[in-house]
Amino acid sequence: MEVWILFYEDIESSTNEAFEIRRFQAEAKDMGITLKVFSPEQFDLLVTDEDRKTVLIDGEPETLPDFLLPRTPPIESGYFSLAVIRQLERLGVETYNGSVCIEAVADKMHTHQILCEQGLPTPITMLAKFPVDIALVEKHIGFPVVVKTLLGVNGTGVFLVETEDAFNDLMNLIGETNPNIQLIFQKYVAASRGRDLRVFVVDGEVLACMERRAKDGGFKANFSQGGAVEQFDLDEEAKQIAIRTSEVLDIRVAGIDLLFTDDGFTICEANTFPGFKGLEQACDINVPRSIFESMQRRLDEKFEPEFALDDQAVV
Ligand SMILES: Nc1ncnc2c1ncn2[C@@H]1O[C@H](COP(=O)(O)OP(=O)(O)O)[C@@H](O)[C@H]1O
Ligand SMILES: [Mg+2]
Repeated sequence: MEVWILFYEDIESSTNEAFEIRRFQAEAKDMGITLKVFSPEQFDLLVTDEDRKTVLIDGEPETLPDFLLPRTPPIESGYFSLAVIRQLERLGVETYNGSVCIEAVADKMHTHQILCEQGLPTPITMLAKFPVDIALVEKHIGFPVVVKTLLGVNGTGVFLVETEDAFNDLMNLIGETNPNIQLIFQKYVAASRGRDLRVFVVDGEVLACMERRAKDGGFKANFSQGGAVEQFDLDEEAKQIAIRTSEVLDIRVAGIDLLFTDDGFTICEANTFPGFKGLEQACDINVPRSIFESMQRRLDEKFEPEFALDDQAVV
């Protein structure tokens, strides 16, 4: 089995993301999997029906792998990386994750639109329109309100605005300086203040779950914001919410964030590039191995129908 990872940074760098790529490399070696790591910039994309078995990497044709594992969030890498993923998909390479879910999930509004359509629990969410009609926000969402940038990750674009006055000031400031920014307003789930759950789902099964707690009484629980992590035993209802979320968004490797409500859970967001350094610290699991095993299963299944036919022929 051959797997390619798409990654922008230097693999030896000290970031969590680079650490995770090295984890994939170590496990692949252990499992006898051929793993190659490329940066999207190494590709040249040529749309032609003359050769559907290779792509150009550093100008030279390279035979396609069985699987592609993109670790290049589109917000950082933009259109080119998405085009690379699409090219490989269209040439028949299976992707963990695919371009369609990467695009849908990068957009928080779109994610909530899909989840709500499918009857999954999400906080009331509204797309901002400038000038903001504060009375409308008060009527449908109320205060405090959570304000998020549409494409944010790692908690950096998320604010809790406590009062109507503070919200009014902030919206005036944004309206003056950057009215074209895309924001969403979301109901503040008070029962979840400073804590949430990260559920890691691989190919429709919950691999692990951890509770994240914000440091110093903050309201954002992201690990990358310094949140403390601890293994958490999910009940069946929460498991099903996480699995359904990954299914309706069609995410093979998903980080589903759940917020605590007074009587269960609601979905905060989904991630198609979930980090796992904190998760492996908190839970006794091996994320790269589980992902490779899922790929191996799919590869085996691909060849099963042929065997079944042969068996029938013998009978
Ligand atoms: N509606 C909400 N109510 C309460 N807490 C929230 C809400 N939305 C987000 N949070 C907190 O903020 C954190 C970051 O929000 P999230 O939407 O996951 O953005 P990011 O993509 O930047 O991680 C969450 O992990 C959670 O702790
Ligand atoms: Mg998040």
